Amino acid sequence: NKGARRPKDVAPTNVRKVGVIGAGFMGAGVAYVSANAGMEVVLVDQSAEAAEKGKAYAHKLVTGQINKGRAKTADRDALLTRITPTDDYAALKDCDLVIEAVFEDPRVKAEVIAKVEAVIGPEVIFASNTSTLPITGLAKASGRPEQFVGIHFFSPVEKMMLVEIIKGEKTGDRAIATALDYVRAIRKTPIVVNDSRGFFANRCVTAYLLEGHKMFLEGIPAAMIENAGRQAGMPVGPLSLNDEVALDLGLKIAKATEAELGPDAVDPGQKTLLVTLVEEQGRLGRKNGKGFYDYPEGAPKRLW
Ligand code: NAI
Repeated sequence: NKGARRPKDVAPTNVRKVGVIGAGFMGAGVAYVSANAGMEVVLVDQSAEAAEKGKAYAHKLVTGQINKGRAKTADRDALLTRITPTDDYAALKDCDLVIEAVFEDPRVKAEVIAKVEAVIGPEVIFASNTSTLPITGLAKASGRPEQFVGIHFFSPVEKMMLVEIIKGEKTGDRAIATALDYVRAIRKTPIVVNDSRGFFANRCVTAYLLEGHKMFLEGIPAAMIENAGRQAGMPVGPLSLNDEVALDLGLKIAKATEAELGPDAVDPGQKTLLVTLVEEQGRLGRKNGKGFYDYPEGAPKRLW
């Protein structure tokens, strides 16, 4: 990808060792794609067991590759030896880049930033994988905001090619260049975006989901909305995409947007629809088998 312009005056960076904080769904995926590209990974979580669980996810993914004939047992062994799970932040000492993927809570992230910065060198780049919190705000908890940048992966990390690199108000060129070099090294497609609500991709996705909700509220059958989306060239229709992402997450974001920006910031029909589905009918999306559509046991796992 030549689209994302790299700052010219920064020499090529070479990320050999990555620290990943938070071995949950996203952090484990980031650990896997990094180790798969040959990097050493220190995977930190609150307990050694949680960190091990993240490594087990990498084991599962690489085993899937072996079963498909895309990797050998020796590749799995080598990949897994590159991932060091731990609850000890001191293990991050030699990392070239640290990426946090802990809970989406500014206080937890601030705590983690302080703990990481106490052990890494002043030049090491620190990235957040936040999906909603502005990078400029998070960087206030950092003693070195020039080294602070957003690296936003999409789920599932091992499959999604796009990665947003978010430039906070004080993010320096070296942080942007390092993030770009890293994302290209793991063979994904980076775009550099400004620090706005929803960054870039989620702004587009939100508009798509919202139009799906509006059509549904206008009485257009869900199946017709799905077909129209697909026929327009999208890999999946807006309602099934929303089921995949989780309806309760959509409601949570709508409520947070309203609290921050006022009631006019959220479409009232959309909010009522999500409240009805989530709070009254317990439809959370694919994760509990009920969303706009039903997903009975044995339904195909992914829609695209
Ligand atoms: P998760 O709940 O699966 O994982 C979070 C992990 O962080 C847990 O393993 C937890 O034990 C660990 N953790 C919490 N506090 C910690 C601390 N102080 N030190 C070390 N580890 C700690 O969450 P998920 O879904 O992986 O999300 C993580 C981040 O990635 C969030 O900021 C989220 O907004 C972002 N994100 C999530 C996406 C998704 O689809 N789930 C997509 C893109 C970004």
